[in-house]
Amino acid sequence: MNNLILLGAPGAGKGTQGKNLQEQLGIPQISTGDILRENVRTKTPLGIKAREYMDSGALVPDEVVVNMMAERVRQPDCDKGFILDGFPRNTSQADALTAILKELSKDISCVIGVEVETKELIRRLSGRRVCRGCGLIYHEIFNPTMNTGVCDECGSETYQRDDDKEDTIKARIEVYEKETRPLIEYYKKLDKYFGVNGIGPVDAITEKILSNVVKGCDNP
Ligand code: AP5
Repeated sequence: MNNLILLGAPGAGKGTQGKNLQEQLGIPQISTGDILRENVRTKTPLGIKAREYMDSGALVPDEVVVNMMAERVRQPDCDKGFILDGFPRNTSQADALTAILKELSKDISCVIGVEVETKELIRRLSGRRVCRGCGLIYHEIFNPTMNTGVCDECGSETYQRDDDKEDTIKARIEVYEKETRPLIEYYKKLDKYFGVNGIGPVDAITEKILSNVVKGCDNP
């Protein structure tokens, strides 16, 4: 079974790789950011609470995110595995995840660290566009749509995320360095961390993850 975590700074390509891996492995990509943004869009109580944190680039409080994920990984589509994108984000979330999975007699198979330097992260985030319909991720220079502002796949409008503005991008990278980067050591100590260079063509990185990492950490 593949119970995977995608770890990496904002803009490293977790969402992009998660979508490819979901297609190749047939297990769901679960993005905490996507779930939270959907709650913000539909103005649920959770979304109203989360919005102020997300707009400033801060982490949404642990109890909100942990409860949300405890419910999500119990869904039947996770029976054959899952790809967590954006969770856990700090050591207390990582401890909570271990406890949630233990209750389900499951464990993390491996943690894939997508490694990209800060200058490149800023270039990627400031040009990112996302499809409102199917969620496909584009970049206005590196991976543009054929028609500006229109998704190639489903024809919906593409948009720039509210937190992809310069000041918020900087704040998010700082939060990553302080809160999330320590998870690399955390999972290295558990012998579950595999770093992958996140620079290069998207499909070549997916191939690298599949052949070098996922095969090696598959739990029978
Ligand atoms: P979230 O949505 O998770 O954002 P993030 O972690 O900041 O990551 P991103 O989605 O920005 O980047 P990514 O690594 O997925 O990159 P992508 O593939 O899009 O979280 C948003 C907010 O929600 C947080 O700030 C927080 O407030 C809250 N939140 C979420 N999870 C939480 C948690 N667990 N606890 C508390 N709060 C939480 O790629 C980026 C761009 O680069 C795209 O344009 C793409 O086309 C391009 N690109 C990708 N790969 C390549 C490549 N190889 N070459 C060139 N360009 C590339």
